[in-house]
Amino acid sequence: MIHALTWVDGKLELIDQTKLPDETVFLQISKIEEIFDAIQTLKVRGAPAIGIAAAYGLYYGMCESAPRSRDDFFAILQKNIDYLASARPTAVNLFWAMEDIKTKLQTRRESNIDRLKNDLLDLARELHEDDRKRCEGIANSGQEVIPQNARILTHCNTGALATGGIGTAFGVIYRAHQNGKNIRVYANETRPLLQGARLTVWELHNAGIPVHLVCDSMDAALMQQGKVDLIILGSDRIAADGSVANKIGTYSLAVLAKFHNIPFYAAAPLSTFDLSISQGKDIPIEIRDSNEIRNVFNKCPITVPDVPCWNPAFDVTPPDLVTGIITEKGVIYPPFEENIRKIFNP
Ligand code: MRU
Repeated sequence: MIHALTWVDGKLELIDQTKLPDETVFLQISKIEEIFDAIQTLKVRGAPAIGIAAAYGLYYGMCESAPRSRDDFFAILQKNIDYLASARPTAVNLFWAMEDIKTKLQTRRESNIDRLKNDLLDLARELHEDDRKRCEGIANSGQEVIPQNARILTHCNTGALATGGIGTAFGVIYRAHQNGKNIRVYANETRPLLQGARLTVWELHNAGIPVHLVCDSMDAALMQQGKVDLIILGSDRIAADGSVANKIGTYSLAVLAKFHNIPFYAAAPLSTFDLSISQGKDIPIEIRDSNEIRNVFNKCPITVPDVPCWNPAFDVTPPDLVTGIITEKGVIYPPFEENIRKIFNP
């Protein structure tokens, strides 16, 4: 299995996801600015993966600076957090990862500055490993929703390329395949940046899991013809009421699933929940460059140059369209507000 991020020979290595599947290019990271660019331009993408990348970015940021005191160290750290947080607005894992690291580091305030720098690297590596374990937990708890011979529709990319482990929704699918459930997958191409066609199909193919690629516009017909048993996808931020922000197109899938009476699951680690946001409408949605839809994957122009476009990268699915949320601590079912609270405060 190829990993989105690897700490190797004292350096962070990223696979450049904008080049997949045509080329497998690894980027050696040595600066915080390179992490910012990789997150913003989707060389590294997927909610957990960008949180992990930012954690390593904080280490590189402190290696580039020479703080004169511990107070100075924490002031620079905060500046670097604010900088990396401005790369993308929707996936809460980005903010969660950096806050988690800052909070842990603050308990070590008495260490000297060199020690604090090293601690940043240790904490980034711990966070990376923590996400790998969360993916395993999600894969295992998700098995209760996957029947034998299931035909599964998924959206965007939620695999090893999007996380520090085997993935979220992808991990559930992968574990079902490992368990011999004879599953088949329909992967949405996921317009406009084709994470489904380029990345999910590639990962499923590499894992030997049977897959059909479909265009997003084919989902309704696919469901009408009875070809889908369940939908499972990831999330970038889940509000306290169970609203799920995920790749644009997720909401349409949820509406279609309700109409066709098909179960609709989101799979995400608890680090993707944002309990400070009570309702989905308050989740910030990233609006990306119009050229992403004027061209097919930045290569081939398909419309009138400069036509005005609306290009939100994510949408929000209301909780009443969600059958369950698969986490490393089990599957959360409605009533979501109450059951999400219970999972955080058992
Ligand atoms: O814009 P992207 O490619 O970063 O969007 C990613 C998604 O929407 C994923 O479905 C989500 O991050 C969950 S990945 C485990």
